[in-house]
Amino acid sequence: DLTAEQEQFDRLIAEDSRIEPRDWMPEAYRKTLTRQISQHAHSEIIGMQPEANWITRAPSLKRKAILMAKVQDEAGHGLYLYSAAETLGTTRDSMMADLIAGKARYSSIFNYPARTWADMGAIGWLVDGAAIANQVPLCRASYGPYGRAMVRICKEESFHQRQGFEILLELANGTEAQKQMAQDAVNRWYAPSLMMFGPPDEDSPNSQQSMAWNIKRFSNDELRSRFVGMIVEQIKTLGLTLPDDQINYNEATGKWEHGPLDWNEFKEVLAGRGPCNAQRLERRREAHDDGAWVREAAAAYAAKQAAKHSE
Ligand code: 3HC
Repeated sequence: DLTAEQEQFDRLIAEDSRIEPRDWMPEAYRKTLTRQISQHAHSEIIGMQPEANWITRAPSLKRKAILMAKVQDEAGHGLYLYSAAETLGTTRDSMMADLIAGKARYSSIFNYPARTWADMGAIGWLVDGAAIANQVPLCRASYGPYGRAMVRICKEESFHQRQGFEILLELANGTEAQKQMAQDAVNRWYAPSLMMFGPPDEDSPNSQQSMAWNIKRFSNDELRSRFVGMIVEQIKTLGLTLPDDQINYNEATGKWEHGPLDWNEFKEVLAGRGPCNAQRLERRREAHDDGAWVREAAAAYAAKQAAKHSE
């Protein structure tokens, strides 16, 4: 009966155990995980675009090879996460259809343009750095398939962050123009990367329940503060500056504080009115159509295999 199953679920959560696909779970738990994991997967897939646009413009073969490897990793992260979401009962096709119809969320950060090569450095260092700060705790998410997907993804993200940092370091130690290009990219990507962590805690309707279910281990503001503490040290090695003169370590609270963020801009981006929302969806639709023949061929092949084995 329901109470016995609910009690079993509550016990697993209380003892910080894993919930696996075959376990009973409250429908609301299933729903919020499908929401978060599918959006995470969409973020990885859309996240390929800003960097993919620079693969043919990379300044050297070495940089081109590294950037290609990173973009391919993002595709793989998306596929792991769609697979994890499918274990909750939603098909990949329906998640893809929602994204293409413009009905699905993905991370706000990918609706900003990558204007110069230095953006590849700022994205790797700041965006993947923020993704790591957010994803390391998710390795311990109570839902097994999600936590396990995160372990593999986090390993690859640290390569993404380091190659971004190295791009910025080379530019910052290059000509004056290169240093300016790196500083300009950091200036443009700093605030949007802080907003990746989600709205302020007081405006975060999902956080309380997600934390009660050990999906989210730390609040949006807590992770944002940790991330500021990380980059405020690393920027010194780059010899660049962060575009925020209000960064301050609050001894009393033990938190890193930062200047105000533009939550109206955040809401606009989430409403689909960011700088690149339309372009990103258009490209996703094109890619989906371009790939139709591969899906059809794979389906035809699978049908033939099934027919052969059923004879
Ligand atoms: N972009 C888009 N939507 C966002 C957002 C963002 N940065 N931050 C919050 N939102 C949305 C939430 O999805 C929620 O809307 P919904 O209820 O319709 O889903 C609403 O704003 C309120 O936010 P909450 O704080 O209540 O929502 P969550 O508890 O889900 O917290 C989150 C938001 C911290 C992003 C959480 O969903 C999360 O940790 N997701 C997994 C991490 C993730 O998606 N990372 C993407 C980073 S990009 C990436 O990984 C690629 C990298 O490899 C380059």
